[in-house]
Amino acid sequence: MTKITAAITAVGKYVPDYILTNKELETMVDTNDEWITSRTGIKERRILKEEGKGTSYMAIKAAENLLKKSNKNPLEIDLVIVATATPDLPVASTAAYVATEIGATNAFSYDLQAACSSFLYGMSTASSYIESGRYKSVLLIGADKMSSIVDYTDRATCIIFGDGAGAVLFEPNNEGLGLQDEYHRSDGGGREFLKIDAGGSILPTSEETLKNKQHSVHQEGRTVFKFAVSNMADVAEKMLTRNNLVKEDIQWLAPHQANNRIIEATANRVGLESDKVMVNIHKYGNTTSGTLPLLLADYENQLKKGDNIIFAAFGGGFTWGAIYLKWAYNTLN
Ligand code: UT7
Repeated sequence: MTKITAAITAVGKYVPDYILTNKELETMVDTNDEWITSRTGIKERRILKEEGKGTSYMAIKAAENLLKKSNKNPLEIDLVIVATATPDLPVASTAAYVATEIGATNAFSYDLQAACSSFLYGMSTASSYIESGRYKSVLLIGADKMSSIVDYTDRATCIIFGDGAGAVLFEPNNEGLGLQDEYHRSDGGGREFLKIDAGGSILPTSEETLKNKQHSVHQEGRTVFKFAVSNMADVAEKMLTRNNLVKEDIQWLAPHQANNRIIEATANRVGLESDKVMVNIHKYGNTTSGTLPLLLADYENQLKKGDNIIFAAFGGGFTWGAIYLKWAYNTLN
């Protein structure tokens, strides 16, 4: 019997219209375009400005974009996973709302949270359901409204993050395409370096926590950078060595978009030239769970059936990992 593999069969995206440029940030905090560009590679990011709209708004738009492009029927989706660090509401599942709104009324749904690795781990989860034969159609959405947890007076974080969402559909494949291998790690010792202090079960919201601005994301950038550089490169390299691949076998590297210097270090370790590295950090900054699916949506027209893609991500927790996936379709323009 042929082994069932889990392939990505459609992608979609959404980013808000509002563009927050480095120039505008110069008017908000003590920073400048030159510093941001040379230290991170970011030129601008998108911000969801409209009041009352949360992460689900972008997730729904990305999913609808996928459904429209691919002509897939939402009633045939078995499961909707929303990878996010910024759910609409604490407790109530964002994915449940998204599934209902897009008409995936035969699906069950839940959120998956592993900071910037949420989407990568979601790829593992979605694929496992497909490979086991349990489900035939899993919609995985990566969406984050980072602007809702960023302190726009903190120059160490506000220059990095942006809002956005991407969606992919996983379905069974009998040609051996789709997810081939993965290697995921985590280290709880990292949680001190990238976190929101208050609003969780350790330090619930109080007047004090609001006064102390403990509800925004805070990071020790240099420490996170150091761990991200070495770990993302390590796991990406592992995908090659473990699968007997040489750099010529790899068509694309799809790295989490946190800092261009981390992306370059990962590409260098696996020996890939810049034309094989997916990059959109200059346009969107770090959209957390949105980075990987936004890359796929932006590069979809260049991807060919059978292309070998290495995904890698690193995020709060710490969490990190890599996936080796064979692309399953050619895009008809
Ligand atoms: O996606 C989840 C994982 N997150 C990451 O991977 C982020 C990893 N970290 C980073 O990307 C980088 O550490 C940052 C972009 C956050 C910071 O870059 P850096 O090269 O690590 O800068 P730094 O924090 O070491 O600061 C260098 C200098 C400092 O000044 P002094 O002490 O040398 O005088 C900072 O105060 O740059 C200063 N600085 C800034 N200057 C202008 C920090 N932020 C800014 C800023 N504009 N926005």
